[in-house]
Amino acid sequence: MKSTSQKEQLVIQGEKNLSNIIIGGSLTDVENYIPVGKVIILTDNNVFRLYSSDFPDYPVIRIGTGEGIKDLRTVDYVYEKLMELNADRTYFLLAIGGGLVCDIAGFVASTYMRGIRFGFVSTTLLSQVDASVGGKNGVNFRGIKNLIGVFNQPEFVICDHRLFKTLPEKEFFSGMAEVLKYALIKDAYLLKILEQDMEKIRKWDPDMIHEIVLRSVKIKKEIVEKDESEKGLRRLLNFGHTFGHAIENVHDLRHGEAISYGMLIATYISEKEGSLNTFDASRIRSFIMTSGLISKININVIRVREVFMTDKKREGDLIHFVLLRSIGEAFFKPMKIENLEKHLQEWADSFIKI
Ligand SMILES: NC(=O)c1ccc[n+]([C@@H]2O[C@H](COP(=O)([O-])OP(=O)(O)OC[C@H]3O[C@@H](n4cnc5c(N)ncnc54)[C@H](O)[C@@H]3O)[C@@H](O)[C@H]2O)c1
Ligand SMILES: [Zn+2]
Repeated sequence: MKSTSQKEQLVIQGEKNLSNIIIGGSLTDVENYIPVGKVIILTDNNVFRLYSSDFPDYPVIRIGTGEGIKDLRTVDYVYEKLMELNADRTYFLLAIGGGLVCDIAGFVASTYMRGIRFGFVSTTLLSQVDASVGGKNGVNFRGIKNLIGVFNQPEFVICDHRLFKTLPEKEFFSGMAEVLKYALIKDAYLLKILEQDMEKIRKWDPDMIHEIVLRSVKIKKEIVEKDESEKGLRRLLNFGHTFGHAIENVHDLRHGEAISYGMLIATYISEKEGSLNTFDASRIRSFIMTSGLISKININVIRVREVFMTDKKREGDLIHFVLLRSIGEAFFKPMKIENLEKHLQEWADSFIKI
């Protein structure tokens, strides 16, 4: 794979601090961004195995992989290792990994000794376009995703696209689903790029990857800066996630595949509610159905409905549901749970016939 020299820096203005996002930066340059001399690295076993030879020379804490370890036990383990390494408040925690490592590192760094400084080298497509950008950090609790967490921006996020060459294909699609989400809520041109150049992107063409990561992060930055703590606008980032989370839970799918189903359902509802025209709805449907984002399983509607009823974002019998007005324009409105359930059933009936 030819290497790209493209590098672009975006600054996210959080409520408490700034976060520097270096798109096209390099793991091997990370030391230029670390503000202090005492550093501890947090990574997972896979990333350590593949890339530790490129890590700067600091002590490393390693954790396992998989969503099952994203809990307070792992946080406890990392606190203990920090104590063993005599880390005090002058230390810097450097996470090198995907969304899981970054979410845990952000939470640990924000709470250990009431907070130490931290930064990320983001190693998956999903974490570059979504997880590591925006200042949400946290872990799962009693099976509920990200129930325990904090808002706090990393000082920097280095998005090194060269690390993608070792990513398994399923991780490509997992990140791609979030890229599609940005296209649908804010960037019609991005959908055009995806439709035209999916093959190149899939082969990690450096220029294409740079373009789609940059466009995605710009959108997340714009939204997060206006609403860091999800009181309003940030809800748009939940497009496809209301039903997506329920499907992820029931079918044990990767997040990206689950939210691709969620986006299909939200597109269907946008059309049925009269906000999205049939032409745009068909275009979205056909992209999701043919791009490899979903494996076309039979969705268990009864179970999905049960999980959906327990959605932590519901307010009484309403949910702020994100709909499309057109490709590239989203809005949210309070919708009755009952109405959404009816749409879900109708979507499932129509989906089976596709
Ligand atoms: N904080 C947020 O705003 C936010 C947003 C979206 C998702 N998330 C969280 O992000 C997590 C998912 O992140 P993810 O998809 O990056 O998963 P992940 O961190 O679990 O990484 C997926 C797999 O890829 C491996 N890996 C990482 N980098 C690699 C590389 N360069 N080459 C080969 N293998 C590599 C990992 O070891 C792991 O096995 C979830 O826990 C989710 O809740 C957080
Ligand atoms: Zn998501």
